[in-house]
Amino acid sequence: MDASSAGAMESLRLPAGFRWGAATAAFQIEGSTTADGRGPSIWDTFTAEPGRVIDGSNALVAADSYRRYRDDIALLADLGATDYRFSISWPRVQPGGSGPANAAGLDHYERFVDALGEAGIAPLATLYHWDLPQPLEDAGGWLVRDTASRYADYVGLVLDRLGDRVGRWITLNEPAMTTLEGYALGTQAPGRTLMLGALPTVHHQLLGHGLAVAAIRASGARPGSGPIEVGITNNHTLVVPASEEAADLMAAGAFDLIYNRIFIDPVLTGAYPDLSAFGLAEFPGVEPGDLEAISAPLDFYGVNSYNPTYVAAPAEGSEFALAGLPFEPAAPPEGTLVTGFDWPVVPGAFAELLVGLHRDYGDVLPPVVITENGASYVDEVVPDGDGGLAVHDADRIAYLDGHLRAVAAAIEQGVDVRGYFVWSLMDNFEWAQGYTQRFGLVHVDFETGDRTRKDSYAWYRDLIAAQAG
Ligand code: FCB
Repeated sequence: MDASSAGAMESLRLPAGFRWGAATAAFQIEGSTTADGRGPSIWDTFTAEPGRVIDGSNALVAADSYRRYRDDIALLADLGATDYRFSISWPRVQPGGSGPANAAGLDHYERFVDALGEAGIAPLATLYHWDLPQPLEDAGGWLVRDTASRYADYVGLVLDRLGDRVGRWITLNEPAMTTLEGYALGTQAPGRTLMLGALPTVHHQLLGHGLAVAAIRASGARPGSGPIEVGITNNHTLVVPASEEAADLMAAGAFDLIYNRIFIDPVLTGAYPDLSAFGLAEFPGVEPGDLEAISAPLDFYGVNSYNPTYVAAPAEGSEFALAGLPFEPAAPPEGTLVTGFDWPVVPGAFAELLVGLHRDYGDVLPPVVITENGASYVDEVVPDGDGGLAVHDADRIAYLDGHLRAVAAAIEQGVDVRGYFVWSLMDNFEWAQGYTQRFGLVHVDFETGDRTRKDSYAWYRDLIAAQAG
């Protein structure tokens, strides 16, 4: 490290006790999709359909982490990570989506969590990161209310087995993506194109969240679990109107509603926002008691965020206008850097988003944990000059550095942020983008499974170590 980067690092300090982690999700890393009695999920079905995944790939092997989890844990340990956010695969625990637990699936996670504990890394387990058992989708998926109860039953099975080892739980990952991409636009599993007809999936997921919170609280702390902490992970974006004109401001407001507010308001305030901008008088499917369950107090609020979104009023005759949507995407300001995914890199927008959550929700906003943030770039594997391999990913380091500084700035402005998880520990199966987008601190050769630490891994390791000094 040269003197200037050492100097820059010194000034990036997060409060004592801040949690430093990395995140992954079962379907994206595990592979071994039929091992130990795992059942099919909607993502197995989706990836098997021609044309769904951009490079025609699937996750049958992915990063092979089901078999190589000890290597992954060693990488986390060398990184100095305090925490690991991983997800538990519902179709491993309950292959058909209902009925008794599959002991072999739970055995795996028990071994995994024990190995994590031996390495001194605290688990933060996501209970649902998009891999709905296919039989439940066949019965209507998140469009039907019963799926919320099925989910709570599954959570109970996980708690029965792992509740003596894991105390910190995330109920759902990014329900917004399931609704918008999975059921409204069809760009992710299960690939439905229902547009506003997808709205019931919002409520059923959030109801599932509420029932899961109750199940976790009822299960209680056990020797070995540490204190129970429950949260949800929503993805949020700062919505930026294309101009100050009334039509663009209205469009930005409508996008904010459908992307951010319908997923956070009920959880934190116990009410859905007014959806009259979408021609709806009330939110579909809400029954007495639901909102009380959904708004049960949480110990932390997980935020995933990658980039701001620029929004304009839909041009007349555009596909958005024709679909009846009150907004359309706009281009970022000229000169804005973008990632490999073409996502704008605007760290200031990340600070503004966090400060805005604190401003808008005040005391009902629990302590925030950044459960995902990171960037994909085209990474080149080169000889390291020592007979090994290297990846010089300066762009990713700049992205992470900028966004961690944004977190520090938000904390200075009063936002209670307790931890940060890089997406992702390692390159993995990036959903409908297949293997074309690499987000890892660690490079994975998807032919051999070989792992190579990128420069960003060393940068993050040094940063975590510097916090202790
Ligand atoms: C988030 C997902 C995560 C990963 C990142 C890039 O929306 O939660 O699984 O794909 O995006």
